[in-house]
Amino acid sequence: MQRNIIPLIDQRALQAVPAVPQTRIAATGLLADTRGRRVRDLRISVTDRCNFRCTYCMPKSVFDRDYPFLPRDALLSFEEIARAARLFVAHGVEKIRITGGEPLLRRNIERLIEMLARLGVELALTTNGALLPKKARALKDAGLHRVTVSLDSLNDATFRAMNDVDFPVASVLDGIAVATDAGLGPLKVNMVVKRGTNDRDIVAMARHFKGSGHIVRFIEFMDVGSSNGWRMDDVVPSAEVIERIRAEMPLEPIDRNYEGEVAQRWRHVDGSGEIGVISSVTRAFCSTCTRARLSTEGKLYTCLFASHGHDLRALLRGGRSDDELSAVIASIWQVREDRYSEIRTAETARQRKIEMSYIGG
Ligand code: GTP
Ligand code: 5AD
Ligand code: SF4
Ligand code: SF4
Repeated sequence: MQRNIIPLIDQRALQAVPAVPQTRIAATGLLADTRGRRVRDLRISVTDRCNFRCTYCMPKSVFDRDYPFLPRDALLSFEEIARAARLFVAHGVEKIRITGGEPLLRRNIERLIEMLARLGVELALTTNGALLPKKARALKDAGLHRVTVSLDSLNDATFRAMNDVDFPVASVLDGIAVATDAGLGPLKVNMVVKRGTNDRDIVAMARHFKGSGHIVRFIEFMDVGSSNGWRMDDVVPSAEVIERIRAEMPLEPIDRNYEGEVAQRWRHVDGSGEIGVISSVTRAFCSTCTRARLSTEGKLYTCLFASHGHDLRALLRGGRSDDELSAVIASIWQVREDRYSEIRTAETARQRKIEMSYIGG
């Protein structure tokens, strides 16, 4: 089995650092990759489609009417997803996050939530919020624990320009309110910060959610995919984000919630809540990266920036037993070397990578 897997691994990553095979974590017996990282989070993309066209993620010039979105039979079925997820949980996964594209566009998504909720691990979903007013109650009833909503500005004109489908801020805020009432809060609100586009809205965003119980996370614009025209000049370093907010509202750093958390946490000194910054460009967190990603069509990616995935769908549909599938997952994880954000250069940023809407944020 191993022999089929190894040629699919990104050769560049393999060459970057000599591998130190270390297959299990001694204390727990859990799977470990070559850097001793376990697999703790599974992010599952359930659709590559979205009702937004955020300029940094699915620019209209690329994701137009002719874009070859996946046909329905290419998508993993809910049964296939649930089976794969169960095997990951047996390997130590403690959190499953549903992503996309926009996951609420997947028909009957609440049925999948119900199936995954039976696995007994933390279950979260990242959405642009547009369909939350319609779906929040059903998601909660199905067993979803938390939602994270993406919202890049409170300035209506800026937000409409960034989502590029003229979607209003008020409707996302409505989605947040409905999700909170349904018991899915407190929420996390993700703002991708792009210099010259929405960086002037940072402080307003922090102020708006201060005291609400929701946690805003400011994300450095990343070079994911090959179509978002990423330039280092567009990145606002998290240190600058914190400085700008701190000039208006006193903040102090606080400890992480768990090993491998992507956000660095800060609390308002007056006790009115916390914010987070996600600094994957200026302060990479690969050394504690415990995330595996299952794409919409069932490819397993061990890094957000990978150029190759491992085709689990073929195995899921090929009559393989759970034990065989489980062994394949283990063999993929155990040779994992990824640390893209630590070795990012202008050159790697230009290389062809898979799109975020396909692999899932
Ligand atoms: P919780 O802590 O459970 O709320 O989840 P999370 O922090 O994983 O939240 P979320 O899924 O909202 O991730 C926030 C953002 O961080 C993503 O949208 C990405 O932009 C970025 N991110 C998440 N995981 C990775 C990763 O593995 N690598 C990189 N480079 N960025 C990531
Ligand atoms: N850089 C940083 N974050 C991104 N997201 C999408 N594209 C990028 C990018 N290039 C974020 C979205 C959403 C999550 C799924 O990923 O805003 O919050
Ligand atoms: Fe859709 Fe989210 Fe990408 Fe925006 S960032 S286009 S909402 S998947
Ligand atoms: Fe993990 Fe890859 Fe992101 Fe590094 S760049 S944190 S290895 S997903």
